[in-house]
Amino acid sequence: MALYSEKVMDHFRNPRNVGTMENADGVGEVGNAKCGDIMKIYLRIEQDVITDVKFETFGCGSAIASSSMATEMIKGKPISEALELTNKAVTEALGGLPAHKLHCSVLAEEAVRAAILDYYKRNHIPYNEEEFKQCKCAHCEEHA
Ligand code: FES
Repeated sequence: MALYSEKVMDHFRNPRNVGTMENADGVGEVGNAKCGDIMKIYLRIEQDVITDVKFETFGCGSAIASSSMATEMIKGKPISEALELTNKAVTEALGGLPAHKLHCSVLAEEAVRAAILDYYKRNHIPYNEEEFKQCKCAHCEEHA
């Protein structure tokens, strides 16, 4: 079996929603200290719905494919649904990632959450801090 699925290769070669966004409603930037990769996600939010998403990823192919897929998965969705996005769902949508690359999909989940948190903070929208404190992704659970 090839190391990377066709979907991973497709999203790596033709990433969707790449770029920046002027006057974004929420911006989230996360990094992985170990590999040094950085992911930034920009959100346009109208009436609690994510109407547009852009991303910039300085990182490996799996991180680029994960961010591309994550942006596709949350575009047009209400914030509440975007908050439910897990790295597991991103990985599955990509047709899987090698075990040592699962952390790349974690970055995508975290970047989305960071951008939503930024939106909440900018607009003084009350949020449940606990919900943002602990990453509930499969990767973290595995290593808990
Ligand atoms: Fe760091 Fe993929 S190797 S995000």
